[in-house]
Amino acid sequence: MKRYRDIAGDGGSNIVGQVQAQQARLRERLAGVRSIVAVVSGKGGVGKSSITANLAGACALDGARVGVLDADLNGPSMAKMLGVRGGKLVVRDGAVEPPRSALGVKVMSMDLLLPSDAAPLTWEAPTQDEAHTWRGTMEANALREFLADTAWGDLDLLLLDLPPGTDRLLTVASLVPVLSGTVVVTIPSDVSQLVVRRSLTVARESRAPVLGLVENMAGLFPGPDAEVLARDAGVPFLGRVAFDADLARAADAGEAFVATFPDREAARSLRAIASSLRAALAAPAG
Ligand SMILES: Nc1ncnc2c1ncn2[C@@H]1O[C@H](COP(=O)(O)OP(=O)(O)O)[C@@H](O)[C@H]1O
Ligand SMILES: [Mg+2]
Repeated sequence: MKRYRDIAGDGGSNIVGQVQAQQARLRERLAGVRSIVAVVSGKGGVGKSSITANLAGACALDGARVGVLDADLNGPSMAKMLGVRGGKLVVRDGAVEPPRSALGVKVMSMDLLLPSDAAPLTWEAPTQDEAHTWRGTMEANALREFLADTAWGDLDLLLLDLPPGTDRLLTVASLVPVLSGTVVVTIPSDVSQLVVRRSLTVARESRAPVLGLVENMAGLFPGPDAEVLARDAGVPFLGRVAFDADLARAADAGEAFVATFPDREAARSLRAIASSLRAALAAPAG
């Protein structure tokens, strides 16, 4: 097996050159994208993907040009939530045209490339540690390819739905030319908030500004207040999204909850959060 130094010294395969070429292509593909925002959470199941899908929908309703990259390679859900599964992918000039949701949100997801019953990605390695390292490397490679081979066109906002876990953010931050910021999602539970504290620390390490904390499933548990957590952590509190069974149903049906149930409390707060988010992105940094 080749070692890194063999490759770096060009083991004949010029991997470094290939990665550089891809990185250059990636920059070109993202040249028309004004802001890139990663949606993160420490834990799975807090509704990060649902928040991403609905914030994308809310921004599109406000007239913004929006894209979503599903960076959760093992549990991709954006294509389903945004209702673009099953369409045919069009490749033009070596790039995939991302399909659009009913509200015009451009979506790219592993889900669109794999058969629906494909097993999740796994990496075989002699030890757990190595498996972990491999997973990180493979994920970074897959994401770089995704970003470099998708024709995003001109977008006001590209949202990245990251897999649960905090280390992923640093990988993504190192791939994109500029990460405009992060949105952190939590739910009113001690466990979620414990993990989210760590996410906030990592988000700061990524050097991208934390645009704010969102409390999802508000009212479902009698847990701690996320607004207090945000204040303690010194990050903006963007708002609460109420637990609403129709939000889950809409996601399963591939419909935009913010558009189909616009008068619900959860839909109204999602619209307000989207608008604060865009205001924060428009404000000069500093
Ligand atoms: N505010 C909410 N009200 C009702 N159901 C929700 C809400 N947010 C998320 N859900 C549901 O909870 C489940 C997990 O959400 P998901 O967005 O997939 O979480 P994550 O991406 O964090 O793993 C989904 O079935 C989703 O429809
Ligand atoms: Mg998810």
